[in-house]
Amino acid sequence: MFTAGILTISNKGWRGERQDTSGEAIHEILSRIDVRIMNYEIVPDEKELIAQKLIKWADEDDLDVVITTGGTGLSPTDVTPEATLSVVDRTVPGFAEAMRAESLKKTPMGVLSRAVAGTRGDCLIINLPGSPRAVRECLEPILPALPHAVETLKGQGGECAAPEP
Ligand code: MTE
Repeated sequence: MFTAGILTISNKGWRGERQDTSGEAIHEILSRIDVRIMNYEIVPDEKELIAQKLIKWADEDDLDVVITTGGTGLSPTDVTPEATLSVVDRTVPGFAEAMRAESLKKTPMGVLSRAVAGTRGDCLIINLPGSPRAVRECLEPILPALPHAVETLKGQGGECAAPEP
């Protein structure tokens, strides 16, 4: 079992003008594995606010995994990757590589997400794009790797046996 937080990054969601169906999709997908969702919030597309939230959730709330959704594209307001990179001490490129590879099987627009993943202490932070469809297409392929990612991050990893297909 590990703990997780869901951080939705959306100006419209934060103003209450849009239902957070992407956060709900993350909730549903994470519930398929042995995870306890401790934190959930919507914040606007502001780099410092996002960074402060990630720092608090990683350092004070001691979450194992933080999944963000939104703000990864090319619009001038999209700053989630920059906020994430400003707080992580190591990047974990494989998550974003896998997500974009899987996304491209579904839509050529998959290249437009600049999502990143990294670790802050023993907390793993992963960006997802903003739409519920993109959440499903990106989170489902990486879901099987999450428990072992947390184990190894905490220095508890035993044998690195790949899960059976
Ligand atoms: N990836 C998948 N799998 N499915 C999608 O529908 N949408 C793309 C891309 N990645 C998409 C996807 C689009 S249209 C954009 S603009 C970017 O993600 C960034 O989305 P964001 O700014 O909401 O994070």
